[in-house]
Amino acid sequence: MGWRPEIAPAILNNLHRIDVLEVLADDYFGASKRELDALRSLSREVPLILHGVGLGLAGTAPVPAKRLAAMARIFERVQPESWSEHLAFVRTRTVELGHLAAPPRNAVSVEVVAANIDQATRTVGVSPAMENIATLVEPPGSDLTELDWLQSILQACPSRLLLDLHNVHANALNHGYDAEAFLDSLPLGRVDSLHIAGGFWSEHDGVLVDDHLHPVPEAVYGLLVRFARRSGKPLTVILERDGRYGSMESLLAELDAARAALAGAESQAEEPAVEFRREALP
Ligand SMILES: [Fe+2]
Repeated sequence: MGWRPEIAPAILNNLHRIDVLEVLADDYFGASKRELDALRSLSREVPLILHGVGLGLAGTAPVPAKRLAAMARIFERVQPESWSEHLAFVRTRTVELGHLAAPPRNAVSVEVVAANIDQATRTVGVSPAMENIATLVEPPGSDLTELDWLQSILQACPSRLLLDLHNVHANALNHGYDAEAFLDSLPLGRVDSLHIAGGFWSEHDGVLVDDHLHPVPEAVYGLLVRFARRSGKPLTVILERDGRYGSMESLLAELDAARAALAGAESQAEEPAVEFRREALP
């Protein structure tokens, strides 16, 4: 579950029903040593993952050294299981967008991502998982599809992909591609964590908006089952909810639904391509 201060007490009261917490790293960039020690204590009770939103790994403006240093400080102090950041740009050289924006999908942005991931890995000491984002516009200046762009980045960087299934669902609906075919084309060995979330259909604009304020739709659980069945290995699934939380029980029910989806997928896992036989004893 995504750790959010508004529901922190309810999360702490229900840690026995939560397997992993994802903490927004940027919220702790200015944190005191004491606050980070509190996070470290929490990480001893439940595995923590740090999630960045403001580095802008896919932007041509340099990743601010101060932000990277802050990420490294938190990582070192809290010792989470891993960390992640988005394949987005969030600033130009003069403007902070306050938004995860999709960069042009072309060879130049692939090179930029590879260089930024390399720098981030050297600063923090651990490579971040890279998250696919939702976008309502096809980025101008693109000559690659989203899938080809992601594949190129995975070839250029050793990092894993944090696969956001609602972002795939929303982009597929909004830009007219097949979400299942998209998932089927991703390299399984590079994905071991996924995001699930909900959004809303805007009648006015005729688009699905990824707002993290609504329950996870059935279609996303369907994608989770499909991906997990193909993957056939343990996956970490994180529920992202940024507001209108409703009851804690309803959020925990979404975690249970994700667990049930994984369990169902496991029972229907695809046959392994290679069959291993026990050698006959002499
Ligand atoms: Fe996400």
